[in-house]
Amino acid sequence: MNVAIRYYSKTGNTKKLADSIGQAVGAQVETVETPLSEKADVLFLGSSVYAAGVDESVKEFIRNNKEKIGTIVGFSTAALIPSTYKQIKKIAAENGVEVSNEEFHCRGSFGLMHKGRPNAKDLKDVAEFAKKICN
Ligand SMILES: Cc1cc2nc3c(=O)[nH]c(=O)nc-3n(C[C@H](O)[C@H](O)[C@H](O)COP(=O)(O)O)c2cc1C
Repeated sequence: MNVAIRYYSKTGNTKKLADSIGQAVGAQVETVETPLSEKADVLFLGSSVYAAGVDESVKEFIRNNKEKIGTIVGFSTAALIPSTYKQIKKIAAENGVEVSNEEFHCRGSFGLMHKGRPNAKDLKDVAEFAKKICN
């Protein structure tokens, strides 16, 4: 099974999850600026929300790489919303890309809210989640 990891992170929270996934499954961690070079059976795709929703670069990545994406497994951080699943699912559906029902989400620090998140437990949990997906 070919596994790839891509993420967008404005303030570094989602990057922490991406790095933990990379260590757990032994795959290279790249931002959405790096296109897929080969087909990914599983694409761990990290995102967050910034007032108007998921960053445009994440949507563009899905549009530009749709032929090479098997299934998206989403992971996200946010201050308030419970996940970016709905936004990712919508853009994926518009491009004929499948999204797994399994996803990982945790709180991400924002100003005075959720200081220290993702924390060590979040990083351990996301690593376990990723290993489970790949086994
Ligand atoms: C400009 C901006 C707008 C944000 N708007 C929202 C929002 O509408 N809803 C929410 O739940 N979190 C919001 N947040 C909080 C982020 O989703 C949260 O801090 C997240 O962990 C950021 O991920 P990142 O560090 O990977 O960029 C916002 C953060 C920023 C910087």
